[in-house]
Amino acid sequence: MIERELAGRLHYGRQLWDRARRVLPGGVNSNVKMDERPQPLYFVRAEGSRLVDCDGNSYIDFTCGYGPVILGHGYPSVVHAVHQATARGMLFGGQHEAEVQLAELLRDLVPCIDMVRLNCTGSEAVAAAVRLARAYTGRTKVVRFAGHYHGWFDELLVSTHPPADHEESVPLLESAGQPASAIAEVLVTRWNDLSSLERLVAAHPGKIAAVLMEPIMCNTGVIFPDAGYLQGVRDLCRAQGIVLVFDEVITGFRVHLGGAQALLNVVPDLAVFGKAMANGFPVSCVGGRREILEPVASAGVVHAGTFNGNPLGVAAALATLHELSLRTNEIYPHLMALGTRLMKEIRKIAVGKGIPVLLQGPGPVFYMWFTDVPAVSDYRSSARIDRAPYARFAEALLAAGVRVIPGGRWYVSFSHTDADVNRTLEAVSGALDAAAR
Ligand SMILES: Cc1ncc(COP(=O)(O)O)c(C=O)c1O
Repeated sequence: MIERELAGRLHYGRQLWDRARRVLPGGVNSNVKMDERPQPLYFVRAEGSRLVDCDGNSYIDFTCGYGPVILGHGYPSVVHAVHQATARGMLFGGQHEAEVQLAELLRDLVPCIDMVRLNCTGSEAVAAAVRLARAYTGRTKVVRFAGHYHGWFDELLVSTHPPADHEESVPLLESAGQPASAIAEVLVTRWNDLSSLERLVAAHPGKIAAVLMEPIMCNTGVIFPDAGYLQGVRDLCRAQGIVLVFDEVITGFRVHLGGAQALLNVVPDLAVFGKAMANGFPVSCVGGRREILEPVASAGVVHAGTFNGNPLGVAAALATLHELSLRTNEIYPHLMALGTRLMKEIRKIAVGKGIPVLLQGPGPVFYMWFTDVPAVSDYRSSARIDRAPYARFAEALLAAGVRVIPGGRWYVSFSHTDADVNRTLEAVSGALDAAAR
C-alpha cells in the first residue's frame, strides 16, 4: 500500500528513472543508491534539513548526502566561499594559498596530522594511506576487519559485508570483476577482539605494513570499540612497527572536531578524512606522521590526482572547518542532543507498541535495527539481524516525508531543528506499524 501511495506521487521521478536506466546502469551512479524503495529518487533542491524531489515532494533529510552534510544543505558560509572561489578560478593546474591554509588547519585540528595530502574521495585517500604505509615499512600485508568499509577499489572492497556464517578470517571479495590477486596481501580478522589481532600479527612476523580500521565501526551499525581495545591495537602496532590507519571518512569532524581519535583519545599513525570535511563537496585527505608523509616528496612514493586541492573543494573545506571550529560549542552539542533525542523517542514509541528496536551511536550518526538484542558490539551479531523490517520502515518514513538511508544509519546536521525531530517522530509511529506488518 505504501509503495503504491509513494509511487503515485513520483510521476516525473518514475519517468526519469526509466530514462536513466537506459543510460546509467540501475539509473544511478553509485550502487548504494539503488537500495532506495520504491525507487531511487531524483532531486531538484536541497536546503537546510530539507530535500525536494523532482515531483515537488519535500522530505526531512537524515541521509545528509550519506554523511557529508554536517552543517546543513546550502549552508550560507560554505556556499559563499565556493561562489567566491569559482569567480577567482576553477582550477589552476598549480598551487594556491588556500591549500596551505587548509593543510595548516587540518594539522591544528587533528591529533595525528603533521602533514597531509588532499584527494577528492574517501576511496582514493584510503588507497593512498595503504601505499604510504607499505612504502614506509617496506612490507606488503594489510590487516582489515570484517564489516568495515573502506571504499570500492579492488584491494579495499574485501569482507565488507560477508554473510553472517562466513568465517571472518577468510577474506571475501565483494564484487564480480575483482581479481583473486586483490586479496593476496589482505588479512582479515574480527574487530573489537584484541587477541584475534594479536594471533594474526604473530602469524605474520615482519610482514604487516598496516592495520586499517574504522575507529568506530559505522558501516556495520554504529559500534564503539570496547574500552581499551583501540589502545591495545595502538600498543601492538607500535611494538611491531605496523602503521595504524584510522579510516575517519565517516567519523571525521562528525563525532568530534578532532575526529574519533580525539573523542576516544587514541592517536593513529595515519588517518583518512572525507565526507563531513567539506559539507558536501568532494574533498578528502590522508594525513599523519611527518616521517610517513614526507617520502611522497623525497622518496618516490607516488600520490597524484588532477583535481586534488581544487580551489572549489578547498574553499568548501576551509569554510566548513572554520564554521565547525568557531562554533564547536554550539554545533556538536546540537548534533548530540538532536540525535540522542531521536534515538530515545523512537525507542519509546516502539516500546509502547511492543516492537523491539535497537538504536545506538553517539548522536551525530547512529544506527537502528529491528531486534530484541540489547546491544550490537560485533559484525556477526549485526549481520544476523533481519533487514527487511527496516526496509519497510524506511519506505514508510519516505511516504510520510522523512528520508533515511535504507540500510539503517542516520545522520543529523546542524540545520536540523527540534521541529524537524517532532515531525519525524509523528511519522515514526506509522512507519513502525508498517515495519512490524
Ligand atoms: C569509512 C569509509 N571509508 C571510505 C569510504 C569511501 O569513501 P568514498 O565513497 O568517498 O570513496 C566510505 C564511504 O562511505 C566510508 O564509509
